[in-house]
Amino acid sequence: MAEAKGTLLVTGGAGYIGSHTVARLHEGGERVVVLDNLVFGHREALPAAGVTFVQGDMADAGLVERVFAEHKPEAVLHFAAFAYVGESVTDPLKYYRNNLAAPLVLLEAMQRHGCRRFIFSSTCATYGDPVRVPMNEEHPQAPVNPYGASKWMLERVLKDCDAAWGLKSVFLRYFNASGCDPEGRIGEDHDPETHLIPRILMAAKGEIEGLTIFGDDYPTPDGTCVRDYIHVCDLASAHEKALAHLRGGGGTTAVNLGTGRGFSVKEILRAAEQVTGVSIPVTYGPRRAGDPAELVCDPAKAKALLDWEAGHKDPRSHIESAWRWMTGPRGGRYGA
Ligand code: UFG
Repeated sequence: MAEAKGTLLVTGGAGYIGSHTVARLHEGGERVVVLDNLVFGHREALPAAGVTFVQGDMADAGLVERVFAEHKPEAVLHFAAFAYVGESVTDPLKYYRNNLAAPLVLLEAMQRHGCRRFIFSSTCATYGDPVRVPMNEEHPQAPVNPYGASKWMLERVLKDCDAAWGLKSVFLRYFNASGCDPEGRIGEDHDPETHLIPRILMAAKGEIEGLTIFGDDYPTPDGTCVRDYIHVCDLASAHEKALAHLRGGGGTTAVNLGTGRGFSVKEILRAAEQVTGVSIPVTYGPRRAGDPAELVCDPAKAKALLDWEAGHKDPRSHIESAWRWMTGPRGGRYGA
């Protein structure tokens, strides 16, 4: 007989990728409890009803204990983290505290309560500078900034917890998350916003003067950096598949999430001009510290192990959904 589905605890569920995943889990009939301190998350990014919301910090051992005692989660989906690469270089302790030390509190509660399923928002930044592209899960992990290092170290912690007390984890190594809910209800709302597609669209809306391209002298076809843009709704569906893997008795494993196709900064810019119909002013600046020339995913393992593949392969669909969001709810701060 199939095991009854238990409650899912989602840390950082009010953030960008977390909220899209929560929406999907909720629509799929899962019972979801979100723990989010709202430092970067938005309460209004959660479904209006049917999802339990706890405002607080995963480093708060008393609160985490109460959440486990009350809701007895079957699995944890862990999104809560800081994700500004540049800031991680200037303030590494902030990243190690939040991305590495704070989750230990969560893991201790999981161990105490016998919760042994963990889905971890990891990143291609754990690989560091690519020695080959596309990158599969066997690519050496040599992170080049504290953000990537903090995620890589937590992967190591999770492997040790598996060896010691049987915690089963899926490390989902995201490439470049982008796009929004196709209906434009929720989206990307970082402050400050540093990511390429939202900044291009902010320039198209006139919120910022234009786009600065960080370097056009990379060893790529047009000189600008190449990235694998993975739609946030595809990331959400991958979490469902990872959960099914763990519920089916699957073991600890790492899975890359990307499309397998790379696009340069200039290609994304041209696609955004097509979608918006706006000509976006561009200036060229120096390379941004820590940016590898090319990051492209080999998604074969995700297909083979999880039966997952990206549905949105054309970045125009990412840009279209992001544009609907930027000119809709985000423009009106969700209310309009
Ligand atoms: N870029 C610009 N101008 C901008 C913003 C970005 O030229 O104003 C370029 C960047 O230099 C880079 C590309 O656009 O070449 C994409 O940059 P993003 O900031 O959108 O994303 P990153 O490639 O920096 O993403 C990285 C890692 C992810 C990680 C993320 C955390 O690839 O794994 O940072 O924010 F999660």
